[in-house]
Amino acid sequence: MPKSSSDKAIIAEHLCKVFNVTKGVFRRTKTPIVAVKDVSFEVDYGELFGVVGPNGAGKTTTIKMLTTMLIPTSGQAKVLGYDIYKDVQKIRERIGIVLGGERGLYTRVNAIDNLRYFADLYGVPVSVRDKRIEDLLKFMGLWERAKDRVETYSKGMKQRLHLARGLINDPELIFLDEPTVGLDPEIAKETREMVKELTKMGKTILLTTHYMFEADVLCRRVAVIRNGEVVALDTPAGLKKYVRDTSIVEIEGFGITEKEVNRFKQLKEVLAVSWDQSGNKQVLKIQTPMGSEIISQVQDILKNSRIYNIKIKEPTLEDAYLRLVEG
Ligand SMILES: Nc1ncnc2c1ncn2[C@@H]1O[C@H](COP(=O)(O)OP(=O)(O)OP(=O)(O)O)[C@@H](O)[C@H]1O
Ligand SMILES: [Mg+2]
Repeated sequence: MPKSSSDKAIIAEHLCKVFNVTKGVFRRTKTPIVAVKDVSFEVDYGELFGVVGPNGAGKTTTIKMLTTMLIPTSGQAKVLGYDIYKDVQKIRERIGIVLGGERGLYTRVNAIDNLRYFADLYGVPVSVRDKRIEDLLKFMGLWERAKDRVETYSKGMKQRLHLARGLINDPELIFLDEPTVGLDPEIAKETREMVKELTKMGKTILLTTHYMFEADVLCRRVAVIRNGEVVALDTPAGLKKYVRDTSIVEIEGFGITEKEVNRFKQLKEVLAVSWDQSGNKQVLKIQTPMGSEIISQVQDILKNSRIYNIKIKEPTLEDAYLRLVEG
């Protein structure tokens, strides 16, 4: 239920942020870096909205502008019906922010003291503070360890404490910047479950991620950002339509060289290529409208490599994403 005057939780209109970076020691020159060029989107109340894009696409900068941590160079935005330029305090009181990494926790003290500090910072009334901290730590499964120093926590526990910190002011809207980055698969999964729980509680969430399967399982809609611009915005199913007429040819092999990968990229039947190497196995993925007809070309290009397996697969959100952010 909308609690504020606007019927959208977020309205971003043509947000732009240019940083002027000073370079050189003697002859100092200012170089403008366009971090966000033109970003517009709307997020509904109760929605879990994803923002995805390659490194440096402008995701964090967008979050920072929406959370009033950075003033845009141009553009407008309303968050919970409040103007990001005029209503800074009102927005800050009502949102939660969880930025990635380990910043922002005091590891020498325990979880309760950490949360008390942030509760006071956010102006949480003392009358509700300690009960809320207890509830949050129980919700995050940290209550048993609440009195231990944070430096003794595992990575996953720290991440959950980060989430608890982002919820300390009982925000209507939560910004999660890559909440699962660098976490073990098990802990990442746990974190995703927490995020789902939060939406069930009626929270609105804007989440950034590098992992397309994560966006696929969590988000109702996803904005794909490339070079500071939204290049696609749709439901995960809608985004997959970009690769509807495509097959993914997945080749497992060894000894595949960059030169060969580039030969695939040059084929006019090939729309996108990605490759991964883990241990002594390489996995090459080729997007093509051709399907199995391309296999003879694959065998020809890779005649000097060892091929273990070739599979033709249905495209995933990852493939749609690759197509959108490449080129
Ligand atoms: N304070 C800053 N000063 C100068 N340039 C910056 C600053 N913050 C970000 N940038 C630049 O702006 C661009 C966008 O950065 P941003 O951190 O928003 O990207 P991102 O999409 O969050 O990337 P990642 O996936 O790596 O987190 C990058 O080129 C980055 O180097
Ligand atoms: Mg970022």
